[in-house]
Amino acid sequence: MTTTEPANRTIPGHEDLPEVTESNEVAGILTSDQYFKRVQHANTRPAFWKFSDVMGVLERLGEDPLVEAERRFCTTINDDCGDLTGATPFCFIGWQLIHPGEHVPPHRHNSFAIYHILQGNGYTVVEGEKYVWERGDTLACPAWAQHEHVAEGEEPTLMYVVQDMPMLAASRTLMWEEPIGPENNRHMVLGTAPSWSATRTDLPS
Ligand SMILES: [Fe+2]
Repeated sequence: MTTTEPANRTIPGHEDLPEVTESNEVAGILTSDQYFKRVQHANTRPAFWKFSDVMGVLERLGEDPLVEAERRFCTTINDDCGDLTGATPFCFIGWQLIHPGEHVPPHRHNSFAIYHILQGNGYTVVEGEKYVWERGDTLACPAWAQHEHVAEGEEPTLMYVVQDMPMLAASRTLMWEEPIGPENNRHMVLGTAPSWSATRTDLPS
C-alpha cells in the first residue's frame, strides 16, 4: 500500500465559496419516540365538497377575463394537508372551466393528469394526436406529454382533473414547461418559479 499526500486540491472558482462544516439549522435529530410522535401529525381527516360550492367559484371565474392564469380552474384541497395543497397529501383535484372557443395553450408537466369531462365537448391534442371528447369521457395524459385543450360547442366545458402534483412538489421535483420550449422550464418550488402571469405576454402591465 502506498502512502499518498493529502489532496488539498482546490477547483478553480471554488476558493471563495461559503463553507459549511457543522450541522446547520434544519438538521434535526429525533429519537424513535420523538419521531413517531411527530409523524402522527400527518393525519388527515376526510374532506367533502358539494358540487354547488365548486360551481359557485367556477361561475365567478367564468365571468372574468383571464387575468393571472391561462385557464380558469379551482382546486379542492384538504386543509389538513398543509402546504402539500392536495385533496389528499399527494393528490391534486382540479376543476377546470373552458369557454367555447377558448384554447388552453400547449404545455407539459411531469405530473400525470387525468381529465374527466363533466360537461361540454371539444378535443385535447396530446403529442400530436387529437382526442375528441364529450360529456362522460376520460383522458389520461402521461407525465411530460405535451398537451393542449380546445373547447368547442355551445356550452362551457367543465373538466375534473386529478394529478400527482403535491407529491412531486413535496419531493422538490415538480417541473412545468409553458409555453413549450426549454427556456420556459420551471422548477415549481416556492421562490424559484415565476407566477403564472409571467408566462403571458398579452396582458396590460
Ligand atoms: Fe396540463
